[in-house]
Amino acid sequence: MNDELSATLTRRMGGIAYGGDYNPEQWDRATWVDDVRLMCEAGVNLVTIGVFSWSSLEPHDGHFTFGWLDEIIDLLWSNGIAVDLATPNAAPPPWLAENPDTLLVERDGRRVSIGSRGHFCPSSELYRDRSRRIASALAERYQSHPAIALWHIGNEYHAHCFCDTCDARFRGWLQQKYGSLEELNDCWGTTFWSQGYDSWDQVHLPTKVRGHVNPTRELDFSRFTSEVQRELFLAERDLLRAATPGIPITTNFMAFFPLIDYRRWAEDVDVVSLDMYPDPAAPGSLIEAAFQYDLMRSLRHGQPWLLLEQASSAVSQWRVNVAKSPERMRLGSYQAVARGADSVMFFQWRASRYGHEKFHSAMVPHGGESTDTWRAVRALGQELDTLRDVPGSRIRAEAAIVWDWDNKWAVEGAAHPLNSFSYRDVVMEHYRALWRTGVHAEVISLADDLTAYRVLVVPNQYLLRQDSADALRRFVENGGHVLVSYFSGIVDEHDHVALPGYAPGLRETIGAHVRDVTAMPEGEAIPLVVSMEMADLPVSGAATRWQDDIALETATALASYGSGRFAGRPAVTENRLGAGRAIYVGTTLDEGLLEAVMSDLVETAGVRPPLSAPTDVEVVERRTEAASYLFALNHSDQSRNVVLEREAIDRLTGVAYSSGDTLELGPQGVAVLFSARIEA
Ligand code: GAL
Repeated sequence: MNDELSATLTRRMGGIAYGGDYNPEQWDRATWVDDVRLMCEAGVNLVTIGVFSWSSLEPHDGHFTFGWLDEIIDLLWSNGIAVDLATPNAAPPPWLAENPDTLLVERDGRRVSIGSRGHFCPSSELYRDRSRRIASALAERYQSHPAIALWHIGNEYHAHCFCDTCDARFRGWLQQKYGSLEELNDCWGTTFWSQGYDSWDQVHLPTKVRGHVNPTRELDFSRFTSEVQRELFLAERDLLRAATPGIPITTNFMAFFPLIDYRRWAEDVDVVSLDMYPDPAAPGSLIEAAFQYDLMRSLRHGQPWLLLEQASSAVSQWRVNVAKSPERMRLGSYQAVARGADSVMFFQWRASRYGHEKFHSAMVPHGGESTDTWRAVRALGQELDTLRDVPGSRIRAEAAIVWDWDNKWAVEGAAHPLNSFSYRDVVMEHYRALWRTGVHAEVISLADDLTAYRVLVVPNQYLLRQDSADALRRFVENGGHVLVSYFSGIVDEHDHVALPGYAPGLRETIGAHVRDVTAMPEGEAIPLVVSMEMADLPVSGAATRWQDDIALETATALASYGSGRFAGRPAVTENRLGAGRAIYVGTTLDEGLLEAVMSDLVETAGVRPPLSAPTDVEVVERRTEAASYLFALNHSDQSRNVVLEREAIDRLTGVAYSSGDTLELGPQGVAVLFSARIEA
């Protein structure tokens, strides 16, 4: 992947990009002047403009009103503030909806109406044409404006449309994919429930059915939905790229969003960017944030990414929107930078007076300069200026955890032994345990190159392609340490059970045969007897949710069920294969035991955290050839001490430390410890 364009942005910013979504069309000229004054005070150097400006830029079909945009871009630039200019395709204006074919149709056949956003049909030719036309007009008008530092295409693509045009496009996509109706019938398993198609005209996208769905059709529809939106993105990207080859292009991702395979999309952007809204009231939401940051960094193999939206305080779209404290806002911002972000941007600059998001926080709240939030925003901007040399630095990870959209779609598909299953929750259980070990981890797919890692965690890889199964086996044979958890290797890419069941593709790697599987009654826990061979593990634990019936082959048991139908049979196994080791977890372990198994995995593989610290202190190291930046982030409301292992200067306070000194982090405190790197 070409990193050059993303580095262009970093160079232009001269440090961390700081700013937010700016909606000048909601404000008068006097407020613009005040905005720019405040932006300069807070050290804002980049603002995103135009995301929802289509009707202000093109109030009638083909009639453009760029005057106000010229004016504000000039005003910003004359104050040294660069622009992330958006194409406004996420909120088409009412005039476009006069042609109802441009509007999205829900699964139940209901066509949505205007008055919100994201209401477009991604296949509508008219929508495609008009959104390209305004993107071209923007490109033409601003291509040589020095303020434009980044292009922002659309907003959080998420169209899931069931209209006739999408139906025809889906059929075409399937024809290309399968080549023949026989192949489609075969892969969709249409002998089940008499679904055999004898003409392409009978093949449709999955609108509402009478009862249960065909899981492979659903899986293909998810794949198609990601692709059809990618086409929209690519059309605009290509025209922007042709107009301004030197300006990087992005679109804002939502990491856990179910409809898009961001790994595939990441190849098409110049820099990955993310919108991130951890709930300050939800315990552990910053660990989920860490996962998403690691995922964003990994999508382009370690390239720094952009935090394009976060809240300065409360959001307004949840049932209860608890305000984020200034300390938490600061901690969360540094956490993103620690994990590879080269920007800290907010939604939004100034809180709106009207509209659906008028109670959403902003860098400039309704209460203006008298608020804690504004003071925190201004202080953070000034403080980030001490990290001018951080952008571009990288994180080195020897561990990885798998997150795979195709697998997510399949494993959450219809009728499995356990249908309360959330892939996100299961991956997060594993990530939390990994996070607590303190080691750096990338978030990858099994199709990625595995050779850089020594530890690999594979939570519930239900859909396992043969080449991925082979890659996993080679990883272990070559000395890798892997943890695979239950309900993995169950189906192929068509969601057909891989026989002989279960997990035949993993059998050699885990050294065991999964003979059968069963869900456990909700609320039931079965005691586990943990093998004493693993001296550091707790000797007890409990299994919930799921049980595999495992027959050992070359593996040995690390834990067995203590009661019930499978009493005495293995629940957790260990296999030595070649130079490596595979741990297989055939159930849901309680948090303590999973953490113990994870620590054992990491330690046995010889992977170490960058610095040993209390569990609630997150330590992440970004590096260049010459420098190390060790971010220490105290998640606790109490002070925490960390003993430093080398000489360093805390960039945020200017305090110098020697090796062996104790760094005291206040509640939710942050330090960014700079050291010159001596080792290679
Ligand atoms: C984002 C979206 C923004 C704003 C924000 C509110 O998902 O891109 O436009 O709505 O949520 O938190």
